[in-house]
Amino acid sequence: MTGTYTPHAGDDHAKDDDVVSLLMRQHGDIRNLFDEVEAASGEERRDAFRRLVRLLAVHETAEEEVVHPFARRGLPGGEAVVEDRLAEERAAKETLAALDEMDTDDPAFLPRLVALRSDVQRHARAEERYEFTHIRRSADTANLAAMARALKAAEAMAPTRPHPGVESGAKNMALGPVAVLMDSTKDAVRKAMGDR
Ligand SMILES: [Fe+2]
Ligand SMILES: [Fe+2]
Repeated sequence: MTGTYTPHAGDDHAKDDDVVSLLMRQHGDIRNLFDEVEAASGEERRDAFRRLVRLLAVHETAEEEVVHPFARRGLPGGEAVVEDRLAEERAAKETLAALDEMDTDDPAFLPRLVALRSDVQRHARAEERYEFTHIRRSADTANLAAMARALKAAEAMAPTRPHPGVESGAKNMALGPVAVLMDSTKDAVRKAMGDR
């Protein structure tokens, strides 16, 4: 154990129907997982990084399916705001893909991870400032609940805590499976949202 602890879905008892609380908690989980990856080495770093990749993949996919479409429709200047966020998400996914092909103990790994972390943090702050505030103000209860359900469906695919006995079996998960994960996240989110 590294002595670090990553909060897990449900720890904060966030209300199931508050999509903004769920999104903010995921931003916190992502930040904590970056901490874990940086603090660990060897097998522990590989495990923590795998969890970070999964959470980032499902979080960004869920935002693309749920949050950005809502902001695009309802936010003044929403088109431009969302295009900026999508460009940041594309860049982050490319860096993530490159990192995923590296050995986590490669000396070049950590500097790239730190750069990604700063990009992801800036991206998250922009979402919180421009999109989440708007969602909280303007979404009706049914819409908030539907978006929260979709987020939960996505989150179920990305455990942020290691599961003994499962992690070692998932050792070979590389980017291919992450792309598959994004696709199945999309399906789960769309199913949870119903026909929109
Ligand atoms: Fe995002
Ligand atoms: Fe986000």
